[in-house]
Amino acid sequence: MKNNRHLEQKVEKLLAQMTLDEKIGQMTQVRHFDDITLNEINTKFIGSIIHTQGPTPGNDAAEWQAKFTELQKQALSTRLGIPLLFGVDAVHGQNTYDGAVIFPHNIGLGASRNAGLVEKAAAITAIESKATGFNWVFSPCVAIPFNEKWGRVYEAFSESTELTAELTKASIRGHQGLTEPFTVMATAKHFIGDGATDFGVEGGNTTLSLDEIRQQLLPPYQAAIASGVGSVMASFNTLDGVPMHAHKAMITGLLKAELNFGGIVVSDWKAYSRFGGNDIINAGIDMVMAVDGDLGLFQEGVKNGVLNGVISQERIDDAVRRILRQKFRMGLFDNPFPDGSLISTIGIQEHRNVARQAVRESLVLLKNRNNILPLKKDARIVVVGEFGDNCGLQSGGWTVNWQGTTENYKGATTILDGFIKHTAGEVLYDKDGLAGYDNVDVAVIVVGETPYAEFFGDVGGEMNKYQLTLTEAHQQIFETYTAKGIKTVVILISGRPLVVTDQINQCDAFVAAWLPGSEGDGIAEVLYGKHDFKGKLPHSWPKSEADYIGKYGPNYWDNTIEPLFPFGYGLNYNQSL
Ligand code: GLC
Repeated sequence: MKNNRHLEQKVEKLLAQMTLDEKIGQMTQVRHFDDITLNEINTKFIGSIIHTQGPTPGNDAAEWQAKFTELQKQALSTRLGIPLLFGVDAVHGQNTYDGAVIFPHNIGLGASRNAGLVEKAAAITAIESKATGFNWVFSPCVAIPFNEKWGRVYEAFSESTELTAELTKASIRGHQGLTEPFTVMATAKHFIGDGATDFGVEGGNTTLSLDEIRQQLLPPYQAAIASGVGSVMASFNTLDGVPMHAHKAMITGLLKAELNFGGIVVSDWKAYSRFGGNDIINAGIDMVMAVDGDLGLFQEGVKNGVLNGVISQERIDDAVRRILRQKFRMGLFDNPFPDGSLISTIGIQEHRNVARQAVRESLVLLKNRNNILPLKKDARIVVVGEFGDNCGLQSGGWTVNWQGTTENYKGATTILDGFIKHTAGEVLYDKDGLAGYDNVDVAVIVVGETPYAEFFGDVGGEMNKYQLTLTEAHQQIFETYTAKGIKTVVILISGRPLVVTDQINQCDAFVAAWLPGSEGDGIAEVLYGKHDFKGKLPHSWPKSEADYIGKYGPNYWDNTIEPLFPFGYGLNYNQSL
């Protein structure tokens, strides 16, 4: 982040006028519902509003903007009139808004390896987020997943540190823009070790050495900082038993001092009460998600901490300086209000075309026996499985709702839509996979994982709802069609590589489609050969559940274990196996 003397003078001038209550207010982030009343935005000097799962700000973008304008005016009516930051988990498009374009999750963008495309996707996400009133996105997740059992593998780009750093740079540039004021402020998350916990437990314990952290996990943060990222979010995991939120050596020592990060370190959800209260402030957290009943505890706890000398005035001033610095960099003191002219850009075909390109380039062809692909235009096809005609199921978590949706949503197309659009033959649909159509040329079987987010997706975790293999129901669908001797093409919808060795051996073609998002019809464009496969595996692909005997996935645990397919594998139409 370039050190702009004029900017710093404005920050210091404003900081010098602030009372302790106003400073603590700036460090406070709350939901626009439940946590705060409209008047308290003013009386508690709130610095930021977060929108997550819960009542939407309105029925359409104009109402969302109007709501945030009302909240902003409350903040501007305070003595110093410091504008609000509005933050949202727009992690693959403005995915909290029904009708926004939903991009493939980062694992699919990782498979594309297309930094220019990642930048475009981020830029569109920024525009559609601004159009709905936001100026801060909690994205990108720059984790390096060590174990497919983790429920957040799909939020990250790749197991490759180098590829992740490259795409992180593109994502920050896309979200923030290349010049100030930012389009929106981006967030590199979650610092540090979120994807490297033992056994892939979300919020678990990471036991990597500092050297391993520097070598494998830090480069994406260095790339983000070099790209001017405005914020970094602390991670839920512990590092050798110390909560990352309370880890002063890593936050203040490494991130702020050694890497010279001058932006905001924001806590994760309800961190004040979960990770030691004032310890997290002294560790270097600058803004706190004081949600779910933490507001009074946080504001009173920090004030008492300062008055009792537990927290230094310098620490508070460092936090507020960083918050004000970003608000100036974002131009909020010049124009803090949403731009109504952006509303008409939400979900436009131009944005969808970019998302459809991302779908195409994210697909990884793992098998193509006897060149069954590309499909003949006049082939008689049956698309099998409910995942084949449900845009909620193809989009993963963080889609409309925190845990995603199993319903169709506005503006999206399904995989079946694409086949119907591009065929010159006949396309049948077997939703339950039990019809077992006999007289077809090819069965396109769409199976995979229902949407999940965070610990809900951990394999073997507290929820224990997911597994590394296909569900028994999906295995049955596959058996139904292979037993008939019908040619089969499998499309896997998943947030991570799964153990599908048996299905890959038995089918004729196998496509890893990850979590494609709203433009499901893009898949057929590749399967009918209008475009070639370009995707390459962003993760090595596991062969067997028996290989998961260490605290990390096979690729990290023991390099004597051969993956089924290595990182970077992917066929195209000039190759056939
Ligand atoms: C969640 C996630 C984080 C998200 C935040 C706000 O717990 O860990 O990625 O940005 O809370 O929703």
